[in-house]
Amino acid sequence: MGVGITVEQLNAFYGKTQALFDINLNVLANHATALIGPSGCGKSTFIRCLNRMHETIPDARVEGKVRIGEFAVYNGTSATQLRRRVGMVFQKPNPFPTMSIYDNVAAGLKLNGFRNRKQLDEIVEKSLHSSALWDEVKDSLHKKSGASLSGGQQQRLCIARALAVQPEVLLMDEPCSALDPISTGKIEELIFQLKEQYTIVIVTHNMQQAARVAEFTGFFLLGKMIEFDKTEKVFTNPSDKRTEDYVTGRFG
Ligand SMILES: Nc1ncnc2c1ncn2[C@@H]1O[C@H](COP(=O)(O)OP(=O)(O)OP(=O)(O)O)[C@@H](O)[C@H]1O
Ligand SMILES: [Mg+2]
Repeated sequence: MGVGITVEQLNAFYGKTQALFDINLNVLANHATALIGPSGCGKSTFIRCLNRMHETIPDARVEGKVRIGEFAVYNGTSATQLRRRVGMVFQKPNPFPTMSIYDNVAAGLKLNGFRNRKQLDEIVEKSLHSSALWDEVKDSLHKKSGASLSGGQQQRLCIARALAVQPEVLLMDEPCSALDPISTGKIEELIFQLKEQYTIVIVTHNMQQAARVAEFTGFFLLGKMIEFDKTEKVFTNPSDKRTEDYVTGRFG
C-alpha cells in the first residue's frame, strides 16, 4: 500500500538562492497528486526534496520537515533506505545504457540482494507490462541494451525499473514529455491502476493530463505553492487569481 506524504515549512536553496519558500502540503495515500506551474517555479526541486536528491547537488540544502508515511525523511536516516520506498521517474529518461533491458528492470532488486531467478523473471515481466513496454521488448530482453531503445521506450523502461522494487510512493517528473500520445495514454491508464498500491506525485505541464489522472493539484509559482486543492476545484473554480490566470492560459 502507498503511504501519505507530509511536508512542513519546506525551504530549499541552491547556494544563496532560495528556490522553495515555506511549502506545506499533505499528499493523500493511494491517490495521485499533480504539481503544475510555469517553467522554473520549483516543481522539480520540490519533488527532489521528497527523496533527498536535492541535497546531492553541490551547495544545495533543505530546511523543514518531510514525512513519507511514518518515516522522517530529514532525520539522519539513510537516503538509501528512503529511496527503496520512494521511486522516481525523471523528465529525461536515464536507463543504465550498457545494461540489457532485463538487467535495467532487475537492477534495484539485485542491489537489494534479490537472487531468485524465477521470481526475478516474474517481476521483470510484470513491471514491463505495467509500464506498457512488454510487447515491444519481450523478444529482446537480454539482447538489447537500455541505450538502444527509443526515447519513449527508455522512459517506459525507467518506469518499469522504478516499479520493480515496489515502492510506496512514486514521484514522476514530467514522465510523458518524451512520449507519443499512445504511450502517454498507456502511462495515464497505468497511473490509474497504480493508485491502488502506490501514492503518486506527478509533475506535468499538461493540464488535461493533470485533470485526467490526479485527484489533487498543487499550483506552484516562483518557488511558492499558491494553491492546493481538489483538481476539479483548481481547474474550474480556483481561489487565487494567479491560479486562475495560469489554468485559463492568461498567464505571463
Ligand atoms: N542544479 C541547480 N543549480 C542551481 N539552480 C537550480 C538548479 N536546478 C534548478 N535551479 C533553479 O531553481 C529554480 C527552480 O527550478 P526547477 O527545476 O525546480 O523548476 P521546474 O518548475 O521544475 O521547471 P521546469 O518546468 O522547467 O522543469 C529555477 O530558478 C532554477 O534555475
Ligand atoms: Mg522541472
